[in-house]
Amino acid sequence: MLRHTGEFDRTFWQSGQNVLQVKTAGVILLSLFNYYTVIPSLIIALLLFSCCFGAADGACLFRRSSEQQGLSSNLPTCCLEKSEQTAHIHPNSKNAQGLVGLRNLGNTCFMNSILQCLSNTHDLRDYCLRNTHRTDLNCRANAALMEEFAKLTQTLWTSASNEAISPSDFKTQIQKYAPRFVGYNQQDAQEFLRFLLDGLHNEVNRVSIRPRVPVEDFDHLSDDEKAKRMWNKYLEREDSKVVDLFVGQLKSSLTCSECGFCSTVFDPFWDLSLPISKSSGDVSLIDCLRLFTKEDVLDGNEKPTCQRCKARRKCTKKFSIQKFPKVLVLHLKRFSEARIKTAKLCTFVSFPIKELDLREFASDNMNAIYNLYAVSNHTGTTLGGHYTAYCRNPSTGEWYTYNDSRVSPMSSSQVRSSDAYVLFYELTNSSRM
Ligand SMILES: *[C@@H]1O[C@H](CO)[C@@H](O)[C@H](O)[C@H]1NC(C)=O
Ligand SMILES: *[C@@H]1O[C@H](CO)[C@@H](O)[C@H](O)[C@H]1NC(C)=O
Ligand SMILES: *[C@@H]1O[C@H](CO)[C@@H](O)[C@H](O)[C@H]1NC(C)=O
Ligand SMILES: [Zn+2]
Repeated sequence: MLRHTGEFDRTFWQSGQNVLQVKTAGVILLSLFNYYTVIPSLIIALLLFSCCFGAADGACLFRRSSEQQGLSSNLPTCCLEKSEQTAHIHPNSKNAQGLVGLRNLGNTCFMNSILQCLSNTHDLRDYCLRNTHRTDLNCRANAALMEEFAKLTQTLWTSASNEAISPSDFKTQIQKYAPRFVGYNQQDAQEFLRFLLDGLHNEVNRVSIRPRVPVEDFDHLSDDEKAKRMWNKYLEREDSKVVDLFVGQLKSSLTCSECGFCSTVFDPFWDLSLPISKSSGDVSLIDCLRLFTKEDVLDGNEKPTCQRCKARRKCTKKFSIQKFPKVLVLHLKRFSEARIKTAKLCTFVSFPIKELDLREFASDNMNAIYNLYAVSNHTGTTLGGHYTAYCRNPSTGEWYTYNDSRVSPMSSSQVRSSDAYVLFYELTNSSRM
């Protein structure tokens, strides 16, 4: 439902590439000692060792020599080189400017649709164009996904022609991180977005070694104070540009029906998956948000244990938004089951393009107003379908349709449709950021 960025796929992401490198080197060394004279093999061994040792640093060096694209100043020392170019990449002023299509590599429209939505995410685009991600890579050996993502974004914004480009290098990298995207099967765009953001985040996490954070009891604190502490604890482990942009904090309150005791929990979220309310008429996005935050009664087998009664009690549960993210991703649950997709709800959900006011969902009545800038559109059924995207160009403010390699202008009045699937909103005003 919402994303607790726990460890669900951490280990999965951090594939054992280093281990493999070292092992391979070891095997080579052994065979060298077996078959050759000692002195030349020692020399080779030394050479090999210096390569291996460099693995952590080496990746940075390697990356840089493979594409000298300029870096910003405050790089970690191991990433510094004498001949740094500091020039930023500027969007091509005449031509393409983000209006470049992506070739379909065989059922990859889900990927193309999400990539175009992200390419039109103003701050993420600039992060890539300015090569700021290089500063955050922290000399990780494993940063190829971010590199390819940035390269792709740069190409989309600086390409001299509008000719569609192939995202195959990027696809190779995302497959390494998430083997489920190997091959050419139709995939779910929202799941893909989660994997991608998580993968990018891991590579540019400002925290290189996640500390063990002790479990602390914040129950004596006020809700706001508790929320702040929980958020800071989260940042001690997960802190990146991706988090800066996409992650918010959700409050869930559990109230005991016997004694009225209310316990609160604060969790980070990367997107909100909204149920679509069943209704004969049209449904609005606000209706979906109301359904998502509706008070839920937990009774029978679901009864939680009340901390004050020290017994299982009937409780009511309710969500509210404690911290609004800069970019709010709303996923409309059109498919009844995430994996075994059996049915698709084609309910028309109306959503505002401008001034989506979320104050009523805020924990403390703070102001939060969002504007829409991108939509991933799913046409078709659960079995076969096609994804497109429509995005507002962050430079010109004009709307465009992205249908794989085709990009065409559209009017904002065409944006609403019964096929909107993932909505990208950006925060305009919030009294507390
Ligand atoms: C979204 O899908 C609907 C249904 O197929 C289609 O009519 C509409 O043109 C699509 N919108 C865009 C902008 O691709
Ligand atoms: C996308 O392009 C294909 C042609 O390749 C076309 O059949 C389809 O209708 C287009 N979809 C949308 C939503 O524009
Ligand atoms: C945002 O805040 C500014 C200054 O407080 C105000 O002028 C503007 O109308 C607000 N915009 C929205 C969309 O609320
Ligand atoms: Zn109680």
